[in-house]
This record gives sequence, C-alpha cells and structure tokens, in this order.
Amino acid sequence: MYILDLAIDLKEKYKQKIETPYLKGKILAMIFEKPSTRTRVSFEAGMLQLGGSALFLTSNDLQLGRGETIGDTANTLSQYVDAIMIRTFEHEKVVELANHASIPVINGLTKDFHPCQALADLLTIYEEKGTFEGSKLVYIGDGNNVAHSLLIGAAKVGLNCTIACPPNFEPMPEIISYAQEIAEQTHAKIEICHDPIHAVKDADFIYTDVWASMGQEQEKQIRTESFSSYQVNTDLVKNAKGDYQFMHCLPAKRGEEVTSEIIDGPNSIVFQQAGNRLHVQKALLKTILE
Ligand code: CP
Ligand code: NVA
Repeated sequence: MYILDLAIDLKEKYKQKIETPYLKGKILAMIFEKPSTRTRVSFEAGMLQLGGSALFLTSNDLQLGRGETIGDTANTLSQYVDAIMIRTFEHEKVVELANHASIPVINGLTKDFHPCQALADLLTIYEEKGTFEGSKLVYIGDGNNVAHSLLIGAAKVGLNCTIACPPNFEPMPEIISYAQEIAEQTHAKIEICHDPIHAVKDADFIYTDVWASMGQEQEKQIRTESFSSYQVNTDLVKNAKGDYQFMHCLPAKRGEEVTSEIIDGPNSIVFQQAGNRLHVQKALLKTILE
C-alpha cells in the first residue's frame, strides 16, 4: 500500500510536469533473457525521470551468455551499479542473483512470477475503485506467472480473486496455499475453479493473459485446444457486472485469449495498466534506492 500510494503521488507529479530527481546519479542494470516492450521502456524511462540512468543488457552481451556464473555476475555488477532488474526463465536465477548481489535485485518476470505487473494491476484497480474491499478480480486462463503474482498481490491487499483455468493449468499448489495463508489476515476470498462462466459472476475486473507464455512456443497447439473455452468474449462477459472492466498484462493475442471487441472495447483498461507500470516501478525504485 505504501508503494501504491507513492505511485499515485509520482503519477500526479508526472502529469503536472513536476520534476522528481530523487535518484540522481543512481544506475539500474537491466538484464533481459526474454523480449520486452513495457518492462524495458518503463524501467528505463522511470530511472531517467527520477534523475538516474539505466543500462539495457541482454545475456548475449554479457559473459553470462558464455557461461560466467550468476554469482560472479552479481558480485561484479554490485561494484558498478545501484540495483539490478532481471527478466529470465527460472525463478531460482533471480533468487541466486539476489543472494550474491550486495544491491537490490528486482524481478522483471520469471517463469513463475511477474510482481511488477501485479503492482501495476493493483494500482489500476485502486485508482478505479478507491479501495480493494468488496471488489472481485477474476483471472481467466493459464495459471502462470501473471496469475501467481496477482494471487499473492490480491491476497496482500484484501482483494477477492477468483482464477478459472483448464484442468492441468492451475496455479502452483504452493502459491495457492501461500496466497490463502496471507488472505486469512486480510479477509480476501481466494478461489480456484475450472468454470469461467461461474467465475465471472459478479466480477468487477476480468483479467486474462496469453495461453502460451514466452518459452512455451512449442506447446502452442496443445494449449490452444486446452484453452478454447476460456476465451474472454462478449458471451462470457455477459455474466459479469454490467460495468466490469477488462484487464490484460499485454502483449495480447486477439482472437485467442480475448476478442478484439473486448480488448478494444469501452470496458478495457489495458493501457491504463500498461501506463501504470511506469509510475508503480518509479515508486518501487524510489523506495528501495533512496
Ligand atoms: N506486460 C509486460 O511485462 O510486457 P513486456 O513483455 O512488453 O515487458
Ligand atoms: N505470461 C506472459 C506474460 C508476458 C508479459 C509470459 O510470461 O510470456
């Protein structure tokens, strides 16, 4: 909540063109082992707007791509920069990097989590409703990194969250139990089911993500078959609240997980979400670096 409130303040300053040089002279190293539009540009622009700078590094440009260890990379980068943001495959890599680095490490997406996205999503919901209490977020589709981080984020802020996914594509059981454990304190209702129609009943927010994430390209066909009844389309959203809002982390595949009518329609807030990546990450950077 501290980061979300700070993000609202920074967003207001950004709109009013008030300068915010809180991180003057600070440098963020950004390591990407997967493509990115939003994460890369919002972190880089965010650091510049805070008076600092950012380095865009792919593992192929680093000795990491030639087998230098994560530990040695972490120790070396810690000599030069103030924080590291990394987007990679295995979550364990981020943990290893953080364990070896003497500076903060930010997860810019792994196979298992996408916490910066969840922060931006929560900021978007908070802006829309002014509170998390009493709202229902429904995520339809793959129990993937985005679903995992939403579950944990929703549980932390007390937002009710239902996930509807095909059998065998549920979120990881240990993440469900972790979210449920947190939800006991905040009274958020966490539900996992297989029926999208039941799930979207009374939904305030309907969220989906691609059926095949980065690195799962070879599973595309089997996934398209398994997820075919989980598309967010006009028929499905009829079961939600009349003023429901549609969310997607982007990039999206129109005609697969969502139809163009929905994502490009009047209830879609996907670019507000994308925009909020900038503000919430600036709040995060200020919090950990200042
Ligand atoms: N939502 C998101 O993380 O987008 P990018 O892959 O473009 O960074
Ligand atoms: N689940 C998607 C999110 C992309 C921002 C992926 O991991 O590719």
